[in-house]
Amino acid sequence: MRGLTDKRVLITGAAGGIGAATATRFLEEGARVVALDRDDLALHRLQAELPGLDGAVVADVTDPEEVAWAFAEVDRLLGGVDVLVNNAGISVRHRFLEITPEEWRRVMAVNLDGVFFAAQEAARRMLAGAGGVILNMGSTNGLMGYPYYADYNASKAGVIELTRTMALELAPPVRVNAVCPGWILTPMQAAEYTPEMRREFADKVPLKRLGRPEDVAALFAFLASDDAAFITGQTFVIDGGEICGGLASQL
Ligand SMILES: NC(=O)c1ccc[n+]([C@@H]2O[C@H](COP(=O)([O-])OP(=O)(O)OC[C@H]3O[C@@H](n4cnc5c(N)ncnc54)[C@H](O)[C@@H]3O)[C@@H](O)[C@H]2O)c1
Repeated sequence: MRGLTDKRVLITGAAGGIGAATATRFLEEGARVVALDRDDLALHRLQAELPGLDGAVVADVTDPEEVAWAFAEVDRLLGGVDVLVNNAGISVRHRFLEITPEEWRRVMAVNLDGVFFAAQEAARRMLAGAGGVILNMGSTNGLMGYPYYADYNASKAGVIELTRTMALELAPPVRVNAVCPGWILTPMQAAEYTPEMRREFADKVPLKRLGRPEDVAALFAFLASDDAAFITGQTFVIDGGEICGGLASQL
């Protein structure tokens, strides 16, 4: 990708599946990368795996004060931020009628509040500097109804609309886009599902496989690069064709 060399990149939720793959990809592109996560053990493991990282910051994106502190750390480590990959997120499988107020607030706090807090810190710096790129993690669940994930789906739909509005207010010089993956096989999910279950899921996807964290990392790299210089306010689905045909996808 063009224009990523020496770009200062902050990735939230970077200790896990898609975030870790994204950190790896941006390092391959010659960017300078700081990983943020609330899981300090997993962050230490990532630092051992990726010695090229410029730093790792332990912070919970649901707490605006911790996010402000984390960005001060990123200023110290990188001298600013050119690209924010707003990736941290959680999901809980539960029936709509059984979602407790605490569970609802927790999912919203990580997936929507966390994206907002980090985006605001990044945007302030980018507007005061030479601009930048903010990439927010949505999901196909933010575009379609999926049973048993009402809170998650609502949070991801919120991320998509937040993205569009930010794109309008921050352009130029900041570009803002949302990435909506379908079923991505992260290490945690690989351990959770049997090979039969994975085959069954993959069979429903037109490209006949589940996504890999690296597939999503490649889209983040493209959208952050100068090759995407005229793209803002958009929602990019990366799902092997899973939702493109609605019911027709299943025929
Ligand atoms: N895997 C999929 O199929 C899929 C599909 C669509 C969207 N997504 C989205 O992609 C993102 C990454 O998902 P993943 O599958 O790699 O999950 P993951 O659980 O492997 O990684 C998520 C990371 O976020 C971190 N995190 C969670 N809460 C945090 C908080 N409050 N503050 C800081 N860090 C926090 C976790 O510690 C973890 O390292 C999420 O936003 C998820 O909703 C995933």
